[in-house]
Amino acid sequence: MSENVHRGLVGVVADTTEISDVDPDHNLLLYRGYPAPELAEHRSFLETAFLLWTGELPDADELAAFTARERALRHIDPALESMLLSLPHTSHPMDVLRTAVSRLGATDPATGDASPESSREKGLRLLAVLPTIVALDQRRRRGLDPIPPRDDLGRSENFFHMAFGAVPEDDVVRAFEISMVLFAEHSFNASTFAARVATSTRSDLYSAVVAGTSALKGALHGGANQAVMEQFAEIGDPDAVDDWLTARLEAGDKVMGFGHRVYKRGDSRVPLLHAQLRRVAELRGGRDLMAFYEVLAGAMLRDKGLRPNLDYAAGPLYHLMGFDTPMFTPLFVLARIAGWTAHVVEQASENVLIRPIARYEGKARREVSAVH
Ligand code: COA
Repeated sequence: MSENVHRGLVGVVADTTEISDVDPDHNLLLYRGYPAPELAEHRSFLETAFLLWTGELPDADELAAFTARERALRHIDPALESMLLSLPHTSHPMDVLRTAVSRLGATDPATGDASPESSREKGLRLLAVLPTIVALDQRRRRGLDPIPPRDDLGRSENFFHMAFGAVPEDDVVRAFEISMVLFAEHSFNASTFAARVATSTRSDLYSAVVAGTSALKGALHGGANQAVMEQFAEIGDPDAVDDWLTARLEAGDKVMGFGHRVYKRGDSRVPLLHAQLRRVAELRGGRDLMAFYEVLAGAMLRDKGLRPNLDYAAGPLYHLMGFDTPMFTPLFVLARIAGWTAHVVEQASENVLIRPIARYEGKARREVSAVH
């Protein structure tokens, strides 16, 4: 066969979408036509999720109804709670989260209902309940009992309440909310594509979210925010950055938090998240970490011409907010669940089975000899 091989599907336009547009030439990410950083500055994560799912921002009545439904769906049932509490503390939080979504799918009588209404309901259920699961996991790793959700708090405030037993300063909540909006959606990234592949076989929404969660876990995708903090720990000191970087690049290893498959000249979401990081660093005594952050960013630009991606700011931001490093990628899920579920509905609405082909380069045909 003489087909061109597109390893990694680089540059391949696999389908159309109306959910978001990634324009690398103008360094722009649009959600349903609105620039993601503008939404993050002026609108909440719930408004953004509503936009991604329906195509329009909610009016006041729609937002009130959507908010009330989200708040009513935050509780997890005792059987799920005890299953999560029984998992080893050594298990990665992404494995815990993936297992929780699997269980939600296994116990929801509507799992097999692929109608858009049912899928949106399940999407809202996941959007509401995943923070409860992640907060429980953060606490159990510290030997602390779960804190049930409060329905008088916004989604981000309630998440901090459940994770740490207190709602932090407004600037910290706002920084978290902004990160949720910026991470909510990104077109055909690897995890969203995995979710669409699962949907394309007519599998269910929970299974698609499990597929997305599995793809997001890796260090080249969502796992990068965890890897960024581990990298700072490995380097140890800003003065050691140059030697560490030289050795890393000479070994042909990637530096986590830099580069992007689509944006080759920087990502328009980064400055806003960077500003949040600086603000939270001022509040939380993060001056040394910021110095470290700037030194490595400067060295990467100088030596490789590469700029930070969104995960480079998210890792230190979540660290300063008080989350344990392995919890960072589940925080990404709390945002991307909006985009994944929007794509599941879109894929199902005009479904085509996603099934590429490969060029075979193995052994030529040969005979099976009879066994005597
Ligand atoms: N560190 C060092 N070099 C990097 C790099 C990084 N983070 N990202 C890209 N490069 C270099 C590659 O080594 C390659 O150099 P070469 O042409 O001399 O071989 C070139 O830039 C192209 O990289 P490539 O891996 O082919 O680009 P990609 O589009 O496949 O990769 C990423 C995109 C995101 C996978 C890649 O930039 C990466 O691995 N980044 C680190 C992980 C990360 O932060 N992921 C989060 C993404 S939002």
